[in-house]
Amino acid sequence: MSQATARAHSNIALIKYWGKRAGPRNLPAVGSISVTLDALYTDTTVVFDDTLSADCAQLDDKPADTARLTPFLDLVRTRAGIDTRASIVSANNFPTGAGLASSASGFAALSLAATRAAGLELDARELSILSRQGSGSAARSIFGGFAEMHRGTRDDGSDAFAEPMLEPEDWPVEIVVAITDTATKSVNSSIGMSHLDERSDYYQAWIDHSESDLAAMRDAIAARDFETVGALTEMSCLKLHGLMMSTRPGLIYWNPATVAAMQAVRSLREAGTPVYFTIDAGPQVKALCAPGYGEAVARSLEGVPGVLETRRTALGPAARVIA
Ligand code: PMV
Repeated sequence: MSQATARAHSNIALIKYWGKRAGPRNLPAVGSISVTLDALYTDTTVVFDDTLSADCAQLDDKPADTARLTPFLDLVRTRAGIDTRASIVSANNFPTGAGLASSASGFAALSLAATRAAGLELDARELSILSRQGSGSAARSIFGGFAEMHRGTRDDGSDAFAEPMLEPEDWPVEIVVAITDTATKSVNSSIGMSHLDERSDYYQAWIDHSESDLAAMRDAIAARDFETVGALTEMSCLKLHGLMMSTRPGLIYWNPATVAAMQAVRSLREAGTPVYFTIDAGPQVKALCAPGYGEAVARSLEGVPGVLETRRTALGPAARVIA
């Protein structure tokens, strides 16, 4: 029996990933740029146990489906040359599956815990490539601070990995998450983004502009130009949701409180607070705040009708083994 426990933090994309390249290995159609969040994380323990006849899993103290986990563990077993089944115990310190990137922190933590428990010592790039095969956004949660995920061009996925851009202390922007609904989302991202070439007339435009959006964001981050980073972040978010709404059947992840929180962010900005919103495949609004503005933004968003709670967070560290 061998075991390891890892912690990985959630991340949110400033330039969004949505859409897959054809073929196996979960290859992204576009690159993405994200920030890792200190206050939202997953702790995962993996035990390879000779007495087990099948993999088993527990998430937040409840039995969890292993349909997506066993093929992922098989990647680790093949690499380690073992056949042993595993028990996974995982806990999020935030609502699961509600657009708070639990699959990102979850698969990043699982990659690290499972490889260590199997006796493997993968470097960060190899871990990022492995995590991507569980969930595209998980490739970015291997790193702290700002990270960029490369789309890659190879069919084997060996060049589709994330890389660190800035450490948290290099530019301590803050994020306020406004939670508007804690229910599990109705259409998960893998289903939402499948076969977009056949399902959305906007998909090609999304792909065509992705490289220039990434390049503009890289430059703005390097220059610590908060207004440009923020404007690109809102634009990428709204483009993503335009693409989602254009998909057959149309995907609408927002509720009235989501829209109210977006408008509140824009009102704050008009009144001089440096803050911009972004939203993933769920109804929560994440406000990107210039250093020092998190507390004031959190206080304002708490007063928006329909906002249930806010979480304020700094940028977080890379995934790591904790036991
Ligand atoms: O990693 P997935 O398959 O859960 O997809 C993530 C998609 C978005 O969160 C909407 C965007 C992103 O880049 O994280």
